[in-house]
Amino acid sequence: MNGAQREFLKVAGLAGKKTLRGTVRTSGAKNAALKALPAALLFSDEVLLTNVPRIEDVSRMVELLRSCLVEVEDVDEASVRVKVGGSCSTVLRRDIAERMRSSVVLTGPMLARFGSVSLPHPGGCVIGERPIDLFLEGFLAMGAHINESDGLYELSAKGGLRGADIFFPIVSVIATETLMMAAVLAKGTTVLRNAAMEPEILHLANFLNACGASIRGAGTTTITIKGGELLTARGRTYRVMPDRIEAGSFLILGALTADELSITDCEPEHLQSLVHLLLRSGVPIEQGQHSLHLRGNGARRNDSFKAFSVRTHEYPGFATDLQAPVTVFLTQVTGESKVFESIFEGRLNYTADLVGMGADITMGNPHQVRIKGPTRLRGAELHGPDLRAGLAYVIAALVAEGPSIINNVYYIDRGYERLDERLRSLGADVVRESVSTSRP
Ligand code: EPZ
Repeated sequence: MNGAQREFLKVAGLAGKKTLRGTVRTSGAKNAALKALPAALLFSDEVLLTNVPRIEDVSRMVELLRSCLVEVEDVDEASVRVKVGGSCSTVLRRDIAERMRSSVVLTGPMLARFGSVSLPHPGGCVIGERPIDLFLEGFLAMGAHINESDGLYELSAKGGLRGADIFFPIVSVIATETLMMAAVLAKGTTVLRNAAMEPEILHLANFLNACGASIRGAGTTTITIKGGELLTARGRTYRVMPDRIEAGSFLILGALTADELSITDCEPEHLQSLVHLLLRSGVPIEQGQHSLHLRGNGARRNDSFKAFSVRTHEYPGFATDLQAPVTVFLTQVTGESKVFESIFEGRLNYTADLVGMGADITMGNPHQVRIKGPTRLRGAELHGPDLRAGLAYVIAALVAEGPSIINNVYYIDRGYERLDERLRSLGADVVRESVSTSRP
């Protein structure tokens, strides 16, 4: 018996009723923690990270670091201490690195500090091809040599990396972060042009600067990094910033299913593109300094909300990671809308499952769908294709009439901490169950 288990969520649909209520605290951001952990390789001393979300991708990144002999100590439920010991392997284990895209981030600090790194093509969601050409071109410009054979990349930079002037033909979040970190230890100055401006990038740069780096322009399209020596934390703590995608996902879920909902420990300023659209649609959102509130939302029928169209865009535009949740919202409001996914070519495929539940969604091309609302959704058995669509399925299942089963819970657990537990605390009937998949 191999004892393998398959987990799934059982969700009781609310059939359009808005009965959830309560408070949900926003976790630390997945896409910040997955860069802060590799950033610890830039330091000569130990780095304490707090507000680290307990999600699968963070566990994989910790596994990967430990497999490279980096010391990662669990300090408490949400804190880890990271320190590069005497020796560090720069061979990223295929079985771990292939499971998430952010494994490629390790190449920046590793190549800059140790002069070598090898990795398989990084894995991650099936939302698109996910190439790494921008990373490889950036490292070549910084003086690295690259060998690639049957999906294994070996990068070397004997004598270290040198500063370079790099223009990104496509805005890439993790290519910006990875090369920004590599440049911190490169000889000379690096300029990153057409860089991503996500808030997680500025937050990381501010911490690295506090520990001795010289990074200017993070959060704008041009970042200039003067390379230098290893950084020192000297007891400074990196606190992972709130997860804007999680907060936005809960806001959309609340708009459709909650009477009263407070989302705390978040940064509303990082969600203005979503908040603006939902306010215009008629959702009664109140914004605090670090919180978002829905009050008296139960009296607002979802078909009283007005449809709007969305085009995903790099920050501060509408986040592609909120595209699936907002599409579910648009199936419930009155009017016709278009969703244009401008960043990933495979990130609208999940809409076929929503149509199966009763949504009126027509795909014009892989980048655009047209939605007509409102439509009643019926519960169904669903297989989440990626973590953000997985959460959208949970929202759809809660809105629907009748029960739903959501498989591939691992995908949801990759990005959302204890989701079923937190939804139950709001009054949702969501249960996590498992079945043995072992063969006799
Ligand atoms: C980051 O992915 C996030 N992941 C994604 O979140 C997010 O959707 C994405 O940024 C956009 O905001 C992490 O931070 C771990 P990209 P990333 O490189 O950096 C093309 C989630 O659910 N590209 O900005 O991989 C690429 O194909 C995940 O939390 C190249 O062509 O995205 C895409 O079309 C999903 N060559 C565009 O750039 C490259 O070398 C943007 O991708 C790199 C990227």
